[in-house]
Amino acid sequence: MDRPQSQKQGRYDRRLRSHHEALAPLRSLIVPSETMPPSSTSSDLVSDRAVYIHTPYCTHNCTFCNLNRRCEAPASEYADLIVKELETLARTDLVRNARYGAVYFGGGTPTVLPPQGLARILKALHTHLNLRPDVEITIETSVSDLSDEHIRVFQDGGVTRFSVGVQTFVDRGRQYLGRHGTGRMAAQRLTDLLDVGFRNVGMDLIYNWPGQTEEDLLADLEIICSLDLAGLSFYALILMERAALHGMIDSGQAPPMGDLQTERRFFERSFDELMDAGFEMLELTKLVRPGRDRYDYIRIRYATGETLPLGAGAGGRLGGVLRRNPSDLAQYAGYVESLPKLLPPYLIVNATYRSIYRLLGAIEFGGFRWHDFDLWIRDSAMIDAAGALFDSLQRDDLVRSDDEGLTLTRDGVFYGNNIAHELAQALIQAIPGGDRPRQHPISHPHGSPHR
Ligand SMILES: C[S@@+](CC[C@H](N)C(=O)[O-])C[C@H]1O[C@@H](n2cnc3c(N)ncnc32)[C@H](O)[C@@H]1O
Ligand code: SF4
Repeated sequence: MDRPQSQKQGRYDRRLRSHHEALAPLRSLIVPSETMPPSSTSSDLVSDRAVYIHTPYCTHNCTFCNLNRRCEAPASEYADLIVKELETLARTDLVRNARYGAVYFGGGTPTVLPPQGLARILKALHTHLNLRPDVEITIETSVSDLSDEHIRVFQDGGVTRFSVGVQTFVDRGRQYLGRHGTGRMAAQRLTDLLDVGFRNVGMDLIYNWPGQTEEDLLADLEIICSLDLAGLSFYALILMERAALHGMIDSGQAPPMGDLQTERRFFERSFDELMDAGFEMLELTKLVRPGRDRYDYIRIRYATGETLPLGAGAGGRLGGVLRRNPSDLAQYAGYVESLPKLLPPYLIVNATYRSIYRLLGAIEFGGFRWHDFDLWIRDSAMIDAAGALFDSLQRDDLVRSDDEGLTLTRDGVFYGNNIAHELAQALIQAIPGGDRPRQHPISHPHGSPHR
């Protein structure tokens, strides 16, 4: 069904395309400390935590990618370093006494690790952590780095969810993006996972790649709708200056990308087609078939923010302290040896940070109930600042508000990261005196631009 494209322009001169950009203002609320807060040594959390396991290796270099990864074979000891890190941390009260509702293997490409290495990590997770009985375990993978032996290991190891990087089924686009294998092969690999019984299989789609036409987009959407996928993440291509694709476009080896208007048209077309096909919105960049994908990992990250990070370059917040493991393998190995001791400065987040983070998380999920807003934001100056912003967003048709709560419109979803960023700024500026932020050159500890 065709719906008119919104004509409204102007509030934002640039679209923020990742939630890292949306959350950037929160960095000013991170406080370095020489001492650990009490929350960082024992766990009295009632809510679930998540685990994030980073594998910073890929078998090839996609032309567009600027993620935290290296294009080389994984070190043979890498899986065992992760197991050792997990075993050591699991002996501390902080890690042992909590319950874990979701595990996410991200990268890079986790399936460049040998199946037996991944089997050892999965076994260690089940042995050493208090996993919720229905724990969600996600594997991020590309289609070309997933072997039948991997699939058998994942069946035995309790993996419940797959996030498969496809990007596009159109072979011309795959070539520009530097993806291995054909679109046909990608569709077949997704079907293979579904055929062996995994229900929660989703894929990543990129739109607005160089030279992409509306027909190319519709061809991708048609294949997506024909597969029994649980959901998909759909990302506008972010053209990083350091990515090879940037140079390819500059030198004429690849056609230019579409402008913001094209990006918006592709977004609206994808959103509408997929909603009409029965998908529903879970998060700004994630659509799911009803009941097929809860995506507990991201829910937990936004609800409590508490995540145990494992592996080189992994980041997360544990006991109110931000952690970022060293990215360099030798330094990471040294860090694993030195555990469980952590060296200062400790990067602490306070209750105000956590409340704003929760509200921004709700925006990423498309809105919130006033009941929850009242629980999270209690200071009257901050409430007023948020209220004024919500009024003006409503005037711009970016949000709809009623007695129940506030919901992003389709335009609001397109600019969802801008809205979250603006809200964070408004709330931080309104923070009463004592809690006011200081400026620290601290970057957020996360892996991909989207996670
Ligand atoms: C870690 S990768 C996924 C797993 C695997 N490495 C792969 O590529 O198939 C996470 C996802 O981030 C998205 N991504 C990475 N770089 C991007 C960029 N520059 N613009 C838009 N999306 C990007 C891609 O959709 C990619 O599948
Ligand atoms: S898109 Fe995935 S496979 Fe490609 S380089 Fe990035 S992390 Fe590696």
